[in-house]
Amino acid sequence: WPNWLPLSFRHADGDWFDLGDVEVLEFRQALDVRCGTLRRTVRFRDGRGRESALEVRRIVSMADCHQAAIEWTLTAENWSGPIEIRTALDGTVRNEGVARYRALNGWHLEPLATGCIGEDGIELSVRTNQSRLTMAQAARTRVFPAEAERERRTVEAPGWIAQIIACECRKQQPLRVEKSVAVYTSRDRAISEPVIESRSTIARDSSFAELLERHSIAWAHLWDRCDIGLGGNDNAQFVLRLHVFHLLQTTSMSTIDLDVGVPSRGLHGEAYRGHIFWDEMFIFPLLNLRIPEVTRALLMYRYRRLPEARWAARAEGYRGAMYPWQSGSNGREESQVLHLNPRSGRWVPDNTYRQRHVNATIAYNVWQYYEATGDAEFLSFYGAEMIVEIARFWASIAHHNPQRDRYEIHGVVGPDEFHTKYPGTEELGLKNNAYTNIMASWVLHCAGAALDRLGRDRRRELFEELALSDEETASWEEIGRKLFVPFHGEGIISQFEGFGDLEEFDWDGYRRKHGDIQRLDRILEAEGDTVNRYQASKQADVLMLFFLFSSAELAEVFERMGYPWTPETIPKNVQYYLHRTSHGSTLSRVVHSWVLARSDRERSWGFFERALASDVADIQGGTTAEGIHLGAMAGTVDLVQRGYTGLETRDDVLWFNPCLPEPLREVHLRIRYRGHWVDVEVTQERLRVRFDETWPRTARVGFRHEIHTVAAGETLEIALSPEC
Ligand code: BGC
Repeated sequence: WPNWLPLSFRHADGDWFDLGDVEVLEFRQALDVRCGTLRRTVRFRDGRGRESALEVRRIVSMADCHQAAIEWTLTAENWSGPIEIRTALDGTVRNEGVARYRALNGWHLEPLATGCIGEDGIELSVRTNQSRLTMAQAARTRVFPAEAERERRTVEAPGWIAQIIACECRKQQPLRVEKSVAVYTSRDRAISEPVIESRSTIARDSSFAELLERHSIAWAHLWDRCDIGLGGNDNAQFVLRLHVFHLLQTTSMSTIDLDVGVPSRGLHGEAYRGHIFWDEMFIFPLLNLRIPEVTRALLMYRYRRLPEARWAARAEGYRGAMYPWQSGSNGREESQVLHLNPRSGRWVPDNTYRQRHVNATIAYNVWQYYEATGDAEFLSFYGAEMIVEIARFWASIAHHNPQRDRYEIHGVVGPDEFHTKYPGTEELGLKNNAYTNIMASWVLHCAGAALDRLGRDRRRELFEELALSDEETASWEEIGRKLFVPFHGEGIISQFEGFGDLEEFDWDGYRRKHGDIQRLDRILEAEGDTVNRYQASKQADVLMLFFLFSSAELAEVFERMGYPWTPETIPKNVQYYLHRTSHGSTLSRVVHSWVLARSDRERSWGFFERALASDVADIQGGTTAEGIHLGAMAGTVDLVQRGYTGLETRDDVLWFNPCLPEPLREVHLRIRYRGHWVDVEVTQERLRVRFDETWPRTARVGFRHEIHTVAAGETLEIALSPEC
């Protein structure tokens, strides 16, 4: 989209301000996450000895979603004289933020028009060259004190417009500039047309101070809902708040009215081109328990793309709905088919699109939202239909193997993107990815539970609309029970059939040779080898199961499927995969921290700290500038919210099973459960849960295996033992 930020100045005898051309005396940049404000202070001296101070504040309004503003205060410290200020709207931008995409076409905007609005306004409209979306921006720039302004002229070029304001600066008399901008697109609701709306918003415009006031109130309300209080660890507290901030920058109240999904890199950069993957599985739990309205809106984004998913299933010869691994505007498959390995400079085939497990994510997310909110209307009109159509897809992609008398799923890729086929074969995909099969089994069972929750009439309607029969739903239960899960060794769940037969990888040798081996796939490809040959995973795959389900839930799933489950299943598998994962995805450490939370608190904390560093320390060495990692950001907050507190919303009970890592002395949360606030306080010694006064009935709170009944306004307090 066009850049609304350009604002600069020059002395009558000089060039436009450039930080590189002056001697910087002081520089401070601060992101105030409490009220969503970016502040910058620069003091500098130019080649002629003129010293100046520039203070900048910038907001993108959380209250008025069409408005953004910059305030600039320039103080001439030891000089007086004429300057020119240039304020512009720039529609000539190109998408060049990701180095490895630069060879691709980065030009997406066609200029439509530029013009002036009254004395102090400019406007620009552009259209995207493929989707034909129109965006209009209008900017109004005012100088204070007004007497400082001498004259204003407008300069235009295709897709670019600026005003040059000649001003008189006086020594030690701050000159303040306010640039406020209105932004509309042709997708916005309750508008006539983007240009008209941006013009009238600017004409009715308020001052920077007024905008800031409303913006700060909106942020304060968001923090009331979303903050998380940690005792005893300032660094974790600081980074978690930054993570909440970035999540809310990407998706919060203004999302509710839009047809948007949640891009895995936020709206912060161009990596993955804004595509929607499965990362919402790491993001929704936080929203479910804070602003569930946002989850609902994001699930509706999926619901609107159900027809496209049905079509995709049909095109591949399946029934039901098959959501694509990566998608965008209209929900069609958008995964790349070639991938540039920057190490070797080669474009290699990319078959990660075979990650059908994204479908289980969507069904799981619908159910989680329903469990947290009890939103029966959503389940009834939208959610159940998605779960049912996804169950249908799983039932049709699974085929019966008479030798085993089990159902199998072939040709897929699991969450670990390193393995996309068997070494030495041409056939794409893998057989029986355990995560996929177990999730499919869970969905097939869940579809029955979802249908049971519908009223008789709605159930009948849905049966008619989807041409469902009792025989079909009964067959889902049967297929779900008989899905095959591969094992090898002593109770190790094989990531996929044959994983245990792959070669062991020389982890120590490669670490010694390369240092950072997170992207082992690229290192091996550059050496003419392939990661498909080794027991080496990019990220948690089998372990995802222990992340998504409690041990009690998994015991049920395994029992239903007729596989053994013992208390050792989790630790044994965690140990096995822990040593075979490179963490090439930032999501991986969140999962590892989670699954170790009870068995090895120290190690869990180590993974947590590393996951916290994902973007603040750019641990992948350059990917943060391409866009933040929203799944890891939200995931770290959720690790504290649910992982360390053992919070679960299951079977109409709010469960807890706290186990804080040693460096965390206490956690304070305010969660939204079934439309009401619940205060939760966990320390190393006790758990306190309090339902607010508006809670209409008694609540069921589970601690380990016991269920307690708590009334509105009451506090449940439970003493905790130090060993969890
Ligand atoms: C991960 C995927 C993730 C995607 C987007 C990839 O590196 O392997 O699991 O969905 O990034 O974040």
